[in-house]
Amino acid sequence: MSDEIEDVHADRRERAASRLRDVDVDGLICFPSRTLEYLTGFAAEPDERHFLFVVPAADHACDGPVLFVPRLYESQVRTETTVADVRTWTDGDDPTEAVRDLLAEYGLRDGRLLVDDTMWARFTQNLRAAAPDATWGLASDAIAPLRARKDDTELAAMRAAAAAADAAVTDLRCLGADAVGMTETELADWIVDRMEERGGRGAAFGPIVGSGPNGAKPHHGHGDREIGAGEPVVCDFGTRVDGYPSDQTRTLVFGGDPPETYAEIHEVVREAQAAAVDAVEPGATAAAVDRAARTVIEDAGYGDAFVHRTGHGVGLDVHEEPYIVAGNDRALEPGMVFSVEPGIYLDGRFGCRIEDLVVVTDDGCERLNEADRGWR
Ligand code: GLY
Ligand code: MN
Ligand code: MN
Repeated sequence: MSDEIEDVHADRRERAASRLRDVDVDGLICFPSRTLEYLTGFAAEPDERHFLFVVPAADHACDGPVLFVPRLYESQVRTETTVADVRTWTDGDDPTEAVRDLLAEYGLRDGRLLVDDTMWARFTQNLRAAAPDATWGLASDAIAPLRARKDDTELAAMRAAAAAADAAVTDLRCLGADAVGMTETELADWIVDRMEERGGRGAAFGPIVGSGPNGAKPHHGHGDREIGAGEPVVCDFGTRVDGYPSDQTRTLVFGGDPPETYAEIHEVVREAQAAAVDAVEPGATAAAVDRAARTVIEDAGYGDAFVHRTGHGVGLDVHEEPYIVAGNDRALEPGMVFSVEPGIYLDGRFGCRIEDLVVVTDDGCERLNEADRGWR
């Protein structure tokens, strides 16, 4: 682990503790999650064992963050994180008493505590039993604003992930009529292989290859349907670099002419996306960006067919704050990264979505994806 990385995570923990004090909270309790990864660099899948990370708000030195982990993880977390205080429990012991003692040691049993938004109920239930007089909230209440603004290391990873996915888009266009007759699943696997060849690591999320009527279901995934000549195919995929994902969509037509209205619909979506990107600048609200895309689609008469928000923040989680949605009056800040992904979905016929990631800059925004947005 480089010193630079060590500093990044220690600095994030200090800023997290400071945020807890700002929002008048006594402590944060994470379990294996992207928030744990953000604060420690340690990425693990959750399982049935108690694996907790307690970040007290108090800023005196003896009250630093504590990792409370199954013994089998001890060597891993000591070498892969810079968290100084690591406590362990062993299979065969009941960890709940130790959790109660830990919270008592930090004076948190009757505190105002935040838990990871994704923490499994079995652990939140145990924490409630261990701290019956505490009050509870969600980690995102304090940590999401920190995570929303990306630093240079995070942006470098996301640029590289976006470049790998953009290169796969170029490969996909070259496939042309050869895509006709492939199943959606075969094409999804082919895309993931291309992203890996171009420097990505795996799929950032289950890729979407929605051919013909399947494209009208925005989160279709992929299946055994064969791609037909001239059908619009919604291709939504991303990969990861250094843990950070990309997320972009192109709607392509392979080996034939599309349905009559398709070219016009694609142009409306393209204009909606451009209008939303143009609306991105520091101080603009997330709702205003959503409105910019929606106005173009409504004016073209397809308002009812744009069935989702315009975008979502992207970081270690593919979907995180800020959400680009009506009613979100949060002001955009430099360093925020989010998707801009308007779409039009005609049930039983086809869908069309164009998605790119943007990062808010000091005076506007920069697109992270540059691959051709056309449908041919
Ligand atoms: N994977 C769906 C999306 O773009 O958010
Ligand atoms: Mn997507
Ligand atoms: Mn997206």
